Amino acid sequence: MITQKMITLVNEQIKAEYESAYIYLSMSAYFQESNLKGMAHWMKKQAQEEVEHAEKFMEYLYDRGARVELLEIAKPAKDFDGPLAVFKEALKHEQYVTARINKMMDLAKEEKDYASQSLLTWYVDEQVEEEANADEIVKKLEFVGGSNSSIYLLDKELAQR
Ligand code: FEO
Repeated sequence: MITQKMITLVNEQIKAEYESAYIYLSMSAYFQESNLKGMAHWMKKQAQEEVEHAEKFMEYLYDRGARVELLEIAKPAKDFDGPLAVFKEALKHEQYVTARINKMMDLAKEEKDYASQSLLTWYVDEQVEEEANADEIVKKLEFVGGSNSSIYLLDKELAQR
């Protein structure tokens, strides 16, 4: 049996996942405008993953016989200060999402809600990957230190995602 408290948190997380998609799409649009098509592609793929995360939570609520409630999503930032600032922001955002997932896991454990714990374990693992992906790009950008030729090469690499 899933509690109303957990249903509320899952619905709020569905919103957070769509908000993440929106943030990454805005970053993708920024990269498009900056003619960094590889980074734009990477961010678009990231946004698609976020929609999948939201849908997985929605399927879970359906399976538990609970109501999905779509909440209002916030307008994302439009302007950024270069690729390093964007990926640092993405990493910070993923750390925020991780904290939210951990809070949900705390509740699932407190409520002895084993089904939610099982689902959330998938998200805990996914967040390790999400943070690592963003962190790796931040480190590469810090390493090349704003050199145009290196950013050009990194952009080509990120187009492979
Ligand atoms: Fe759905 Fe990037 O966390």
